[in-house]
Amino acid sequence: MMTIQKCVDTLRSAKQISILTGAGVSKESGIPTFRDALDGLWARFDPRQLATPQAFQKDPKLVWDFYEYRRALMRPAEPNAGHFALAALQRRFPTLRIITQNVDDLHERAGSDDVIRLHGNIARNKCSADCQGSPTRVDVSQLTWDKASGPPPCPYCGRLVRPDVVWFGEMLPRDELDRALDLARRSDVMLVVGTSGMVSPSAEMPYLVKDHGGVVIEVNPETTPITRIATLHLQGASGVVLPEVVAALDTAQ
Ligand code: APR
Repeated sequence: MMTIQKCVDTLRSAKQISILTGAGVSKESGIPTFRDALDGLWARFDPRQLATPQAFQKDPKLVWDFYEYRRALMRPAEPNAGHFALAALQRRFPTLRIITQNVDDLHERAGSDDVIRLHGNIARNKCSADCQGSPTRVDVSQLTWDKASGPPPCPYCGRLVRPDVVWFGEMLPRDELDRALDLARRSDVMLVVGTSGMVSPSAEMPYLVKDHGGVVIEVNPETTPITRIATLHLQGASGVVLPEVVAALDTAQ
């Protein structure tokens, strides 16, 4: 309770708040992370090895099928109390922005505005060669192809279509990354929610805040590399902790 109150006091005195989210925030919506073991057909694969350009080059059908499987897992998912609490925070602090590493759309569906998406959007696809410029989006619902053969060919150039997500070892979308870096440099408070803080450059954002004297607040049931630089660690599930922050914020000052 003490930490929640300190968090609220810190938020109230902030000029620019940013939120960095990772897979943990969507966990209570039933979306598995890349680090979770998979079951059924996919149990013998390491998801981190499938989410790479090398894997797609070697076996495009395998990687495409893996993404179709992930999409099927995500389809029924609904935003949870953590997503809704972050949207509520933005209504109270209108300049607040969320930087997410997640490829689902649960922040937007919970009502968050102008979300900075560092790792793309799993619901979309693009040409693997970005033949019409980066990104060359392709709406596969408009295409007919033999679905048992894997990804469809790009309607513009004939090379393969792939999910519009950032794979391990790939560059992040330049505009989104620039916005995130600029925001981190301007933030005097960053809430780091549900991320293991192990994947660069996203994991560097809290350090940028810290470097210029800002405060980092972590929301995570576990400790992570970020915990060391966090002024506060709200140790618990985001779907529990974040609504408590909003409730405390709304009680008399
Ligand atoms: N609430 C908050 N945090 C949680 C919860 C929860 N209910 N459940 C788990 N967590 C925490 C875990 O303790 C862990 O620290 O969420 C974090 C999830 O870490 P990762 O699976 O590493 O996810 P993330 O940090 O988003 O990964 C970064 O790597 O998997 C790739 O590209 C993918 O965007 C992803 C990136």
